[in-house]
Amino acid sequence: MAGFPIEFATRIKNLPPYLFAAIDKMKQTAIAKGVDIINLGIGDPDLPTPAPIIESLARAATDPKHHQYPSYEGMLSFRKAVADWYRRRFNVVLNPATEVLTLIGSKEGIGHVHLAFVDPGDIVLVPSPGYPVYPVGTSFSGGISTIMPLTKANGFLPDVDAIPLDVAKNAKLMWLNSPNNPTSVVMTKEYFRRVVEFAQKHEIIVCHDAAYSEIYYDGRRPASFLEADGAKDVGVEFHSLSKTYNMTGWRIGFAVGNKDVLAGLGSVKSNLDSGCFQAIQEAGITALTLDQSVTDGLRKVYQERRDTLVPGLKKLGLEVEPPPAAFYIWVNVPRGYTSASFTAHLLENAGIVTTPGNGFGAPGEGYIRLTLCTPKARLAEAVERIRKAGF
Ligand SMILES: Cc1ncc(COP(=O)(O)O)c(C=O)c1O
Repeated sequence: MAGFPIEFATRIKNLPPYLFAAIDKMKQTAIAKGVDIINLGIGDPDLPTPAPIIESLARAATDPKHHQYPSYEGMLSFRKAVADWYRRRFNVVLNPATEVLTLIGSKEGIGHVHLAFVDPGDIVLVPSPGYPVYPVGTSFSGGISTIMPLTKANGFLPDVDAIPLDVAKNAKLMWLNSPNNPTSVVMTKEYFRRVVEFAQKHEIIVCHDAAYSEIYYDGRRPASFLEADGAKDVGVEFHSLSKTYNMTGWRIGFAVGNKDVLAGLGSVKSNLDSGCFQAIQEAGITALTLDQSVTDGLRKVYQERRDTLVPGLKKLGLEVEPPPAAFYIWVNVPRGYTSASFTAHLLENAGIVTTPGNGFGAPGEGYIRLTLCTPKARLAEAVERIRKAGF
């Protein structure tokens, strides 16, 4: 901002340093040198959106009734399709009128929910390493993130028993994310039940981010937070069409569960945005009511990729487990490296972009994250390049 006399607001100045900037710079240098980069840094599906969804958008886009402002909370027909999908998938019953809210992608709702409930100084419990929007949304509303570290010792699950009483008493909201980004760990219904008890005892809103619930392997379907008894009394679940139907660019998601939490989020949204383009919601209805075998095909592709990359890395001597869900591989860096130095080594000596684990929070130090959003042959090539580069 050289020469511009007005400073950024404190909330922007307080943002954590952009840890990926150094990687970006190294990546650009390598590309300029003509290196054929294999990008295992991005969490964005490389496969196309299924054709019937695209056709549905094309049809709906020509209908003038969709050209006007949409309703703030989303079309009732979309919310009904969400409720039906939840009943079929999780056996969870939702009232589409009060317990489902359309979002412009789940990130939008995840960021905004803090504005509805977090006052300056309130505590928000945030898993770390984790999706950066949880702590950033907290700080934008003046709240204070208290980290719940995810470590090998606790199975990468927030240990609610380790949260000090004074923190629990003053916490307003708690974030959970299963299947997890970046660790890929999945929470069970029993685990969710323990969280519900904790939240009831201390009057804390639970916000569960389930963006990856449909990307799972070996036929083991992750549970919804709302399957746990009492969950709807304390929390909501954020969901997305982005990963389930390869629709990251479309910007459509939804939040479901506690109607008072959704009313709070809805009133933030009605003051800041004007809803989701109705033609996209029509396409969303098509996605949610499609023969869900389309997602079987998607899971098969990711599973083949996982089963190429993980055994390949293990064979090289890297410490890594096959993830049960999501498209992230959480790899221990070898002895003598940090997250940053191993990321730099792989980029400089093997032309592979990865993400340093500490970019997701300090407890992620000692790990790097690789994604499965690249064809199998390129993943096999990545393993070969790492073998040649050594470590
Ligand atoms: C854990 C997690 N939650 C939510 C999102 C946001 O997804 P979207 O806004 O596309 O629904 C992402 C995106 O990468 C994510 O990793």
